[in-house]
Amino acid sequence: MAETKAKKELILDEIEDQIRTIGVLTSGGDAPGMNAAIRAVTRTALSKGLKVRGIRRGYHGLLKEEIIDLSARDVSDTIQRGGTILQTARCQAMRTEEGQQKAAAICKKYGIDGLVVIGGDGSFAGAQKLSHLGVNTIGLPGTIDLDIACTDYTIGFDTAVNTAMEAIDKVRDTSTSHERCSIIEVMGRDAGYLALWCGIANGAERILMPEEKDYDEDALIADIMANKKRGKKNYIIINAEGVGDSINMAKRIEEATGIETRATILGHMQRGGSPTCKDRVYASTMGAMAVELLCAGKTNRVVGYKNGKFVDYDMEEALSMKKQIPAHQYDIAKILAI
Ligand code: ADP
Ligand code: F6P
Repeated sequence: MAETKAKKELILDEIEDQIRTIGVLTSGGDAPGMNAAIRAVTRTALSKGLKVRGIRRGYHGLLKEEIIDLSARDVSDTIQRGGTILQTARCQAMRTEEGQQKAAAICKKYGIDGLVVIGGDGSFAGAQKLSHLGVNTIGLPGTIDLDIACTDYTIGFDTAVNTAMEAIDKVRDTSTSHERCSIIEVMGRDAGYLALWCGIANGAERILMPEEKDYDEDALIADIMANKKRGKKNYIIINAEGVGDSINMAKRIEEATGIETRATILGHMQRGGSPTCKDRVYASTMGAMAVELLCAGKTNRVVGYKNGKFVDYDMEEALSMKKQIPAHQYDIAKILAI
């Protein structure tokens, strides 16, 4: 009798521990592929008999209880769409202890025992706080900036870098016709990955990144002059927004070289558009993996893609990792610019 009672209690404990409802939100800057991740979270969870709740407008919406049920049909026709169907936001209140306590209480109120947070490092810091308050959380790297240390891939980077590359090709056409110097500013916040990749893909003469500490405008001007002498018809500079100042830089270069110089700031167009195949497939894989991790009882983890494999890291470990621009890639860019 006693054994049967103990067995029953064990089963009840297991059921208590099981995830029954999964919440999903997008936070920080939107990124193409986020919808593929939301869809994968939703359908993977539903296939396991779980309930899915979508939280609109990131942590802001969580604190305002903007919570909706998601069915398999609610995520139909979304995999090819840019942006995020759940909307996104930045939320100051979530940075406070009071806000975090409230957010955890709201998750509990709505029965959300597993939460998938799609965003960048800032969003992960919020998820980490929630996991310490008893909400099981998994972070998925969603940002066009590729600036998350624990992963070689972030949802949205591939689409954004292809969008920027195509735009830069167009600027190059007119730059060549007019024999100009063109500065094209790409996004990336404090990181230079978009600039580096475009620099290589677009055959730029110069890449300016915030990580590069030895920016020397006199040397750049001398190189533009030497380039003209070598018979090159234009000079393409990819400037990361973290370096900034493209408009004034263009004025100074034109004045110093006598070569017509124009600045183009690509801006938010880089964040929009239909996700590439890679972003759809990787985001779908990561979304499904987040649900698998929650169902396996994991929490406070970040999904990443490292050395050709989808992996997961402890959130603390992930947030303490550092990432650098690969020196060999930057060296190659410089060699190919001759
Ligand atoms: P990203 O997630 O792309 O890095 P942000 O840095 O803007 O974007 O962060 C997104 C949101 O995550 C913030 O608006 C805030 O609500 C939350 N957040 C950021 N940092 C923290 C933190 N240290 N603690 C709790 N929440 C945070
Ligand atoms: O993090 C993505 C990003 O697009 C950065 O590249 C850029 O610095 C920032 O977001 C722009 O933010 P907002 O959309 O708030 O202007």
